[in-house]
Amino acid sequence: LEIEEFQQDLISWFLRVQRELPWRQNPTPYQVWVSEIMLQQTRVDTVIPYYDRFMQKYPNPEALAAAEEEDVLKTWEGLGYYSRARNLQTAVREVVSEYNGKVPDNAKELGQLKGVGPYTKGAILSIAYQQPEPAVDGNVMRVISRIRKVEEDIAKPKARKIIEGIVSDMISAEDPSSFNQGLMELGALICKPKNPLCDECPVQAHCRAYKEDLQEMLPIKSRK
Ligand code: ADE
Repeated sequence: LEIEEFQQDLISWFLRVQRELPWRQNPTPYQVWVSEIMLQQTRVDTVIPYYDRFMQKYPNPEALAAAEEEDVLKTWEGLGYYSRARNLQTAVREVVSEYNGKVPDNAKELGQLKGVGPYTKGAILSIAYQQPEPAVDGNVMRVISRIRKVEEDIAKPKARKIIEGIVSDMISAEDPSSFNQGLMELGALICKPKNPLCDECPVQAHCRAYKEDLQEMLPIKSRK
């Protein structure tokens, strides 16, 4: 019951305040994939115009698969981390040749695609396919560390496992997409690294860090 209230508080907040972003209106799995790859090392505001141009040029897997790599890299110019673009095209070509252009809807096949790690996999399954899978990025690690007082060092791989387990236990079965994106949005807008806006937080009542005034001490992150 506590978890259901948490889900409701998070999701209704997300649906109310979410930013209108070009990949949020009924996204196809391909659109979710491209946007999440772009967003991994780049800020939302920077990504928006690149995403729009990319989708105009390559609106579906077939279009991206057929493009010259050189053109794809040109379209990516300015976003940096070009291996993201190369891996994306390699993986999309495989989707076209192996899966008839349909982005896989299961962890096993998705995880075998180049450049698709645990985060991207979870994002595609939850946001595009509404499957209750965790999608844990840096924001989500911070948010969950605070809510559940996770004191594991988030620089260590073990912390991600722990947090994926917590999200798996908490995620809404009705709307996994809004749940996961709500966690991300909470991390971006409210549960910030420094000076989190706890007074405005929709899940304050569920937060152990807030209750114990530990929000500034969590997450614990060693320098590697
Ligand atoms: N950052 C990366 N992916 C995101 C998403 N789908 N919503 C909000 N922030 C994000």
